[in-house]
Amino acid sequence: MAETSEPALRIGLLRERAPGERRVAVVPGAVPDLRALGAVPLVETGAGAAAWYTDEDYTAAGGEILTPPELHERAHVLLSVTRPSSEVLRRLRPGQTVIGMLQPASDPLLVRDLADLGVTAISLDGVPRTLSRAQSMDALSSQANVAGYKAVLVAAAAYDRYLPLLMTAAGVARPAEILVLGAGVAGLQAIATAGRLGAVVTGYDVREEAREEIRSLGARVLELPEVESATADQGYARALTGSERRSQRAVLADQAHRFDIVIATAQVPGGRPPLLLEEDAVARLRPGAVVVDLAAGPLGGNVELSRPDETVVTDRGVTVIGAGNLPATVPRAASEAYSRNIKTLLGHMLHEGRLTIDLDDQIQAGVVVTHDGRVVHPAAAEAVEAMATTGGVEPHESGTPH
Ligand code: NAI
Repeated sequence: MAETSEPALRIGLLRERAPGERRVAVVPGAVPDLRALGAVPLVETGAGAAAWYTDEDYTAAGGEILTPPELHERAHVLLSVTRPSSEVLRRLRPGQTVIGMLQPASDPLLVRDLADLGVTAISLDGVPRTLSRAQSMDALSSQANVAGYKAVLVAAAAYDRYLPLLMTAAGVARPAEILVLGAGVAGLQAIATAGRLGAVVTGYDVREEAREEIRSLGARVLELPEVESATADQGYARALTGSERRSQRAVLADQAHRFDIVIATAQVPGGRPPLLLEEDAVARLRPGAVVVDLAAGPLGGNVELSRPDETVVTDRGVTVIGAGNLPATVPRAASEAYSRNIKTLLGHMLHEGRLTIDLDDQIQAGVVVTHDGRVVHPAAAEAVEAMATTGGVEPHESGTPH
């Protein structure tokens, strides 16, 4: 067999190109781990610069610094955090592998292009979430943790009072009351962070298990009797029915104005985020209140007024912050965590220094999107199929109209 004479697998680290993206897929400290897996680490010049990792840091760790054309020429596998840019796509060659958070179901055009190119695409956001041996590869969780943490800091910075109870010679300041909507990974981290900063925290989620987790962090639970526990596949929330959604919004509007800060993180897989706070609910918040919507996106968010990367101050003085890419604003912590996710996934997929695709493996079945010129991931294949039948890219809004 050719195995013994084959060159070692060359793994190339890409510089991220999306505006505002400051993360890097592998931090210098993880470069020796790639070598330990039998791979040769190649690094695009400036790959870590936005997170303050220099080319010299990578060289010292055992990486070889290359220009973009050299990297694309020599690497068998290319690592990134986000989807490949058009510049990267143009340089990809058949037989190469890209690994990143590709969100394939929401970009069927990219998936089709990667399959047509004969590129193997591996997406870390497909790691099975509830499989305990895959937890250290779970990039959705690692990045959601960063987002939940940063959301509290963003809210605190915009808030016009203290978060903790403060007793000073000039008097006593009451602690801030914070409501966290959605207690998945980001929400639970927001609850924990707000608690550490001394705020009085209340959490809310439609899943009963999440309510238990809120309590275990020492926070209060906002109980809305109108909505039954709504757990669906793999521990995710199901989309609520129309009447559940209406009553949820009505009750939340009645409750939210008691809080100084609202951090919204609710998501439903494969659908647009649920709308939880309508404009009139925001209008009822007190002047100086702050809302941070982590779910803000092109299809809307949990809060009616929020837009990604935009801050709106209402006439009554309520600040509504549509979070953008919060993990990119904590680039070293986010990159270190992502780096560990990538390293563990590579450790799972590399055998004797070679990348082995095995779609019978539960983890690989979740992450491998395209291989051998085909779209092999069912959800991505479905999205590509839908695009072909409708003649355009379907927006991602299945089942959960507001
Ligand atoms: P997510 O980002 O999909 O959603 C965030 C939260 O919003 C979820 O807790 C969800 O229940 C909640 N939500 C959805 N609709 C809502 C509504 N209308 N009102 C209020 N809340 C609403 O969730 P994330 O953070 O990705 O986690 C999803 C699930 O994945 C978790 O529940 C957990 O069971 C599972 N998971 C398990 C892990 C493990 O077992 N190690 C690791 C990570 C996630």
